[in-house]
Amino acid sequence: MRVVLLGSGRGSNAEAILNAQREGRLGRAQVVAIFTDKPDAPMLQLGPRFGVPAQFVDPAPFKTKLEGPGEERFIAAIRAAQADLLVLAGFMRVLKPGFLDAFAGRIINLHPSLLPSFPGLDGIGQAFRHGVKVTGCTVHEVNAAVDGGRILAQEPVCIEETDTLETLASKIHAAEHRLLPAVIARLSGA
Ligand code: GAR
Repeated sequence: MRVVLLGSGRGSNAEAILNAQREGRLGRAQVVAIFTDKPDAPMLQLGPRFGVPAQFVDPAPFKTKLEGPGEERFIAAIRAAQADLLVLAGFMRVLKPGFLDAFAGRIINLHPSLLPSFPGLDGIGQAFRHGVKVTGCTVHEVNAAVDGGRILAQEPVCIEETDTLETLASKIHAAEHRLLPAVIARLSGA
């Protein structure tokens, strides 16, 4: 199963996936390309480290969604990589029907809350400020509803009285780094 990773920033989840592959924990999945919408995304540095092509794809003209020429450039790059599965690992853009139709049923997303609670931006901060005692992370299929597709897996994280936003964020990221590679391995049929 050929996997393409899409992200916008740090790339810690992409790194967890590549480490899982290196350690034989990604089933029949193989990461074949990394694409980002930010030319300076630290995620791009994973390419040379793991021997995977990593490339900035110009998302212009929009800032928060992928539509028009930018969408076409992403579709062409992903098609060229012959992706069976697209993994959104911190890809901070809303996908539109042109993209969703091109890869229907083959896109999954990681979100840092227990959906359907706290969709959208800053899922960790939203849960922290709301004062819930349990939050976590979700891997779900992507459809036209933002953070609304069928849930594939979740991992809960408790919020203790002593937690700060920073300690909560690190607990959620640790959960994400376990959950996302495990889901990819499962989808690969392993
Ligand atoms: C992750 O926490 C992921 O859940 C979140 O972005 C972070 C990316 O971190 N995604 C969203 O909020 C999507 N709505 P990373 O770049 O270190 O993998």
